[in-house]
Amino acid sequence: MHSARLPSSDGYRTGLRRSPGADRGALVRFLSENVFPFHVIPRPTAEDANRAIEAGHYDGREHATLWARDPDGTIIGVVRLDDLDDDTPMVDLRLAEAQRGRGLGAKVLAAATDYVFSTMPITNRFEGQTREDNVAMRRTFLRCGWVKEAHYRDGWPIEGQAPLASVAYSVLRRDWESGTSTPVNWDDDPEVAALSR
Ligand SMILES: CC(C)(COP(=O)(O)OP(=O)(O)OC[C@H]1O[C@@H](n2cnc3c(N)ncnc32)[C@H](O)[C@@H]1OP(=O)(O)O)[C@@H](O)C(=O)NCCC(=O)NCCS
Repeated sequence: MHSARLPSSDGYRTGLRRSPGADRGALVRFLSENVFPFHVIPRPTAEDANRAIEAGHYDGREHATLWARDPDGTIIGVVRLDDLDDDTPMVDLRLAEAQRGRGLGAKVLAAATDYVFSTMPITNRFEGQTREDNVAMRRTFLRCGWVKEAHYRDGWPIEGQAPLASVAYSVLRRDWESGTSTPVNWDDDPEVAALSR
């Protein structure tokens, strides 16, 4: 158990937009005016974004979209929550290009984690996956006390290229409450561990 306190969101916050409705234009602009080099669709067009919103990927029973705001209230990114009908929602965090490279991803992820655990009583775990070469996102998860739980080899398709691994991290409600990180017990069964060596 690591006892360091998880980082604070430092005034960075998320605001729920269960229905992009009035914000739809802003969401479409955000998605189509920024490049997301590690996403399956790195350069969504406005048409792609509208299609995804219409298909229900940004709101409804299973999905919600949060604007990430700095302490002045300026929008700096978007957090999408998936699998909200399950007790382990998934996160997709995207900062605007101009906001990257300054550690803000960790503040937004901390704010999103606070938001999920404080407003969603059934949620016990909060999970995210990223491409293996997305070092900034992997370090952001670790900086926020999230723990690596899986490395899905060839699990991330890339158009025109061989697939890469998808790496999964999560944070537990009890760790969020206590400000600790409980490591995965990979060798829980010594006989099974011996067989896999
Ligand atoms: C991924 C993202 C949220 C990270 O947030 P960020 O604030 O830009 O992260 P930073 O660039 O400050 O990097 C975080 C850490 O990774 C390190 N890092 C970043 N790129 C790195 C690289 N190529 N090699 C080594 N370290 C790197 C930084 O030094 C920093 O380290 P620290 O925690 O020790 O200070 C943001 O860059 C983003 O929105 N990217 C596009 C969308 C995306 O890929 N989202 C992930 C979807 S799951």
